[in-house]
Amino acid sequence: MERLQKVIANSGYTSRRKAEELIIQGKVSVNGEIVTELGTKVNYEDIIEINGEVINKDVPKEYYLLNKPRNYICSLSDEKQRKTVVSLIDTTTRIYPVGRLDYDTTGLLLLTNDGELANILMHPSNNVEKVYIAKIEGILNIEELKKLKAGIMIDGVKCYPKYVKIKNKDIDKNTEIIEISIVEGRNHIVKRIFEAIGHAVIKLKRERYAFLDVKDLSSGEYRTLSIKEVKRLYNLKSK
Ligand code: URA
Repeated sequence: MERLQKVIANSGYTSRRKAEELIIQGKVSVNGEIVTELGTKVNYEDIIEINGEVINKDVPKEYYLLNKPRNYICSLSDEKQRKTVVSLIDTTTRIYPVGRLDYDTTGLLLLTNDGELANILMHPSNNVEKVYIAKIEGILNIEELKKLKAGIMIDGVKCYPKYVKIKNKDIDKNTEIIEISIVEGRNHIVKRIFEAIGHAVIKLKRERYAFLDVKDLSSGEYRTLSIKEVKRLYNLKSK
């Protein structure tokens, strides 16, 4: 017997967190009965339906690494009819992005139908490193740089960059390019960190995610992950 949310995540339908939301919202039934208890145990013979659709528990897992272009949204559909990152991947499997990049952010995005791996990568306790290149308005002064390195309070929780490197300053245009590494994944976190010290982010790219980068992919291109890479990602789970 396994917990219902784990079986849903393992089926590749969605991440474990999203599965929990669906259960609480009363959208999941087991053998025809709506279940809203998060701890409910099921076995692999039970028929699980989400919004009336039976989930297939034997879907092969797929893993993609995309160099996300600007102006693509990280949800599965959009009421404003904006283009979705999933539409860039040639598959008939129901995959979804691991975490989010903003509509105007470019760079490395993983997509999968492996809810268990998505859960490991997004869980704060696993400290998965993400490296961003941010172009900011203005030039950071020594005090601001110190503040940034010491950690910035966002909504009452401090975000500590792993490191911050100044890559380039354009004194004429009054902009600066900064490399910043962070382990947490709150929405808009990089933009919020810089806003908190008075600098707007004009451009943002995610260059690295754990040991993965997008150096060999042009904008909009993607590749599948190797089995070795998937295993290394699984190994990021804290013991
Ligand atoms: N931080 C942001 O502000 N935006 C992103 O897209 C990713 C991290």
